Order: sequence, then structure tokens, then C-alpha cells
Amino acid sequence: MALKSDATSWGSVAKFFHWAIVLLILTQAVIGLVMVELPKRPSSIPVYSFHKSLGITILALAVLRLVWRLFDTRPRDVPGMPHWQALGARFGHALLYALIFAVPLSGWLFDSASSLRPLYWFNLFPMPNLTGGKNEAVKEWAEGAHELLFWVLILVAAGHAAAALVHHFHNRDETLARMLPWRSRARGLS
Ligand code: HEM
Ligand code: HEM
Repeated sequence: MALKSDATSWGSVAKFFHWAIVLLILTQAVIGLVMVELPKRPSSIPVYSFHKSLGITILALAVLRLVWRLFDTRPRDVPGMPHWQALGARFGHALLYALIFAVPLSGWLFDSASSLRPLYWFNLFPMPNLTGGKNEAVKEWAEGAHELLFWVLILVAAGHAAAALVHHFHNRDETLARMLPWRSRARGLS
């Protein structure tokens, strides 16, 4: 399987980043929503630490993905796609890229401004404090932004997934098939 994308199919690196980030965001969403319902006790701290470390991992993957995307080709739109649809997809993708940065960054900003405990990535490496210490105004703003941006991400991703399914089952084109991890380039061309 080729690493790079070409005119008709996504390469394995682009597919890896896409599906790894989807799976981690779904896992992270469940942890986040359950975590905020837990009683505020010391026993909840490891769950928060895990959420923060996994979130930083998603942010790192998003950075690597964007860097890879700058050097990778983007497959052409499938034949017969109306211009407005191609534009809509491009706008949706740009928004999704922005959100996979904005959601973890707002969480990190909230954690920094709260300054409850130093932040460690999986108890291994210290992470910088983005606000240089406690900051009540940023804390309140970032907490609201983290929750709101998360729901915007879920909404845009749901629309994006629905569009992929319409392409597959209604238009019966290659849009979804060529992003699936188990589809090889040879079949993608058929
Ligand atoms: C893509 C990555 C992330 C996703 C999808 C995500 C998702 C969520 C969700 C769904 C909640 C619950 C919101 C609510 O109902 O109040 C939450 C809360 C929280 N997240 Fe994240 N998060 C991510 C990254 C991060 C990062 C990187 C950090 C910190 C380094 C972080 C820190 C927090 C904290 C501290 C809370 C609790 C907020 C509160 O007490 O109100 N998150 N997150
Ligand atoms: C958190 C969830 C998701 C995020 C953040 C996300 C993000 C993205 C982004 C940013 C792109 C553009 C790639 C690029 O141009 O470099 C993309 C493409 C794509 N995604 Fe997703 N995605 C998510 C979920 C899904 C799901 C659930 C499906 C399938 C049901 C899906 C199917 C696709 C397909 C088929 C493409 C290629 C579109 C094309 O060739 O024009 N995505 N996704």
C-alpha cells in the first residue's frame, strides 16, 4: 500500500491519521462526558489526567497530520460532483482541521489557567503552562469554549459522516471507499 496519496486514492498515512484521530476523538468524548459527572474526589484525578494526556496526543497527531497534508497530494473529487458540493466539502474539511486543533487547545488552556496541578503527558513529560499560572478570566472563557467547540466538532463531523454515507449508498461513488483502511490502491482504481 502506497504511503502517499495520488490523483485517485488516499495514501496509507493520510488514512492512518484520519481514522486514528476519529477513534481517539470518540474515545475522548466518552471519557470527557463521563468524567465531568464524577464526584469531585481525589479518586477522579487519574481520569482527568488520562483525558488531558489523550487530548495532547490528539493535538500532536493533528499537527503531524497537517504537516503531512502540506506535502501530500489530495485525490481529485469523484467525477460528476457538482461545484457547490465540492466547495461545501472543502469548507467542511477546513473546519474539521481547525476543530481538531481548537478543541484540545481550549482544554489545555483551561487546564493551564486553572493551574491545579502541573500537567504531565502520561506521567512522563511535563507540558508547558500556556497562561504562565492561574488566570480566572481565561479559565472561565476556556472552559465554555472547550465544551462548545466539542459540540460544534460533533455536529460538523456528523454532517461530514452523513455526506460520506450519501456518497456511498446513494450516489454509489468512490468517495468513502477510497478512504477506507482496508481498500488497497489497486481496488481503488477499479
Ligand atoms: C480532541 C480532544 C478533546 C476532546 C474531544 C475533549 C472532550 C471533552 C468533553 C466532551 C468534555 C466534557 C465537557 C462538559 O460536558 O462539560 C471535556 C472536559 C474537559 N476537558 Fe477535554 N477534550 C479534549 C482535549 C482536552 C485536553 C488536551 C485537555 C487538557 C490538557 C482537556 C481538559 C479537559 C478538562 C479539564 C475538562 C473538564 C472541564 C470542566 O470541569 O468543566 N481536554 N473534554
Ligand atoms: C471526528 C470525526 C472526523 C473528523 C475530525 C474527520 C476529518 C476529516 C478531514 C479533515 C478530512 C479532509 C482530509 C483532507 O483533505 O486532508 C476528511 C476526509 C474524509 N472523511 Fe472524515 N472525519 C471524521 C469522521 C469521518 C467519518 C465517521 C467518516 C465516514 C463515515 C469520514 C469519511 C471521510 C471521507 C470519505 C473523507 C474523504 C473525502 C474526500 O475524498 O473528499 N470521516 N475527514
